[in-house]
Amino acid sequence: MATEAQDGTLTVTDNRTGTTYEFPITDGTIRATELRNIKVSDDDFGLMTYDPAFMNTVSCRSAITYLDGDNGVLRYRGYPIEQLAAKSTFLEVAWLLIHGELPTTAELASFTEDIVGRMPVDPSIAASIGAFHQDAHPMGVVEAGFGQLSTLYPEAKDVDSDPERMDALYNTIAKIPTIGALAFRHNQGLDGVAPDPVLGYSTNILKMFFGSDYEPDPRLVRALEILLILHADHEQNCSTSTVRVVGSSRVDPYSAVGAGVAALYGPLHGGANEAVLVMLREIGSKDNVPAFVEKVKNREALLMGFGHRVYKNYDPRATIIKKACDDVFEVTGVNPLLEIAVELERTALNDEFFVRRKLYPNVDFYSGLIYEALGIPSDMFTVMFAVGRAPGWVAQWLEMINDNEQKISRPRQVYVGADERDYVEIESR
Ligand code: SDX
Repeated sequence: MATEAQDGTLTVTDNRTGTTYEFPITDGTIRATELRNIKVSDDDFGLMTYDPAFMNTVSCRSAITYLDGDNGVLRYRGYPIEQLAAKSTFLEVAWLLIHGELPTTAELASFTEDIVGRMPVDPSIAASIGAFHQDAHPMGVVEAGFGQLSTLYPEAKDVDSDPERMDALYNTIAKIPTIGALAFRHNQGLDGVAPDPVLGYSTNILKMFFGSDYEPDPRLVRALEILLILHADHEQNCSTSTVRVVGSSRVDPYSAVGAGVAALYGPLHGGANEAVLVMLREIGSKDNVPAFVEKVKNREALLMGFGHRVYKNYDPRATIIKKACDDVFEVTGVNPLLEIAVELERTALNDEFFVRRKLYPNVDFYSGLIYEALGIPSDMFTVMFAVGRAPGWVAQWLEMINDNEQKISRPRQVYVGADERDYVEIESR
């Protein structure tokens, strides 16, 4: 968290002109537009920063989630993730992220009834999902589902109307698991299962997946709740930044979240949890771990589920998930891939290649083992990540749309292409 000690001023001298400039430092940052004052002539546009992949760029001021990557700290609205995972519920965390405070008993009861009541989706969505190939990846289906939601609720385009946008945000949280479950059932060649308004959110998810006769063990429901809580927000990650950038054009929030789903789909982001299971199966046995680690060190493979742009320490979520594995495996029996994962972690954490690069297990390293133990297939793991991340996406969208400093996102570039040249007729090429 930025401290007063980090504030002050920065003095720079442009050696091209000998001119010295002083910039205020606020929260450990200087305002990038201040650099435009550094010019070599009056008609000079002024300096910009070049920051591919935004490795060192602050895009917003946010009060939602705090990360300390060096010390492995994660807090939602100031509450440590360890306490929320131990004591809270997913919908309580969703309320906290959106509204900024823990709900009262009455608020939580009303919110829970509202969200569960919104879980059913328009029949046209089930019909659309039915038109996908049976082997369609569920993330592609969920991505399309949000485009369809934006057409079903055109009133969500009024992003300045509080009632309209809260409707859209709550619908997003409520309907993303239903769309995901319909995608899953379609892959299985099964009809969809309607959510039951008398059941809880996570119990409904498992029943929509495995059938209305399925009676999930309460320990499995709790494990799912913990996974959803742990995935709920993570400040300006790739998919959340995408929701903010797309939302900055003032498109409806369903469309902005749909863009976030697409970003999360990538194997370097939310797709990593699925890739971890593929990797563990390819390794096949703990005896093959040393050979795989050598492949990684020879740059022939990535150690999926390891490494993080911000965490240069153990991802606190991975610690919690690893513990949750024990509770789940008490019910389902130990996932045989756990032994390989634990050996992979042990080997990597004792190998200079990973230690020097500060590569530790991230949220995706163990989460798939629980999803698989719950009976969820690996191509649904990223959908589960999206279900968990939905409250974070919508809370961050709301904070962005209410932020008077935000405008349409439109970065600049350095042009490195051809100089002006005349068109050449095809006969002369
Ligand atoms: C998520 O941002 C978030 O908050 C994301 C997330 C969230 O909650 O939203 O936490 C969720 O996306 C977690 C990350 C899931 N992805 C993976 O597990 C995929 C594997 N991880 C890597 O692809 C990588 O670690 C990233 C993408 C996560 C981070 O990449 P960076 O910060 O761009 O780091 P980098 O690629 O520049 O790597 C630095 C060095 C390189 O070596 P050198 O060239 O310096 O010698 O570390 C190496 C990389 O080759 N490296 C890895 C590695 N991750 C980094 N080498 C092997 N295996 C890896 N996993």
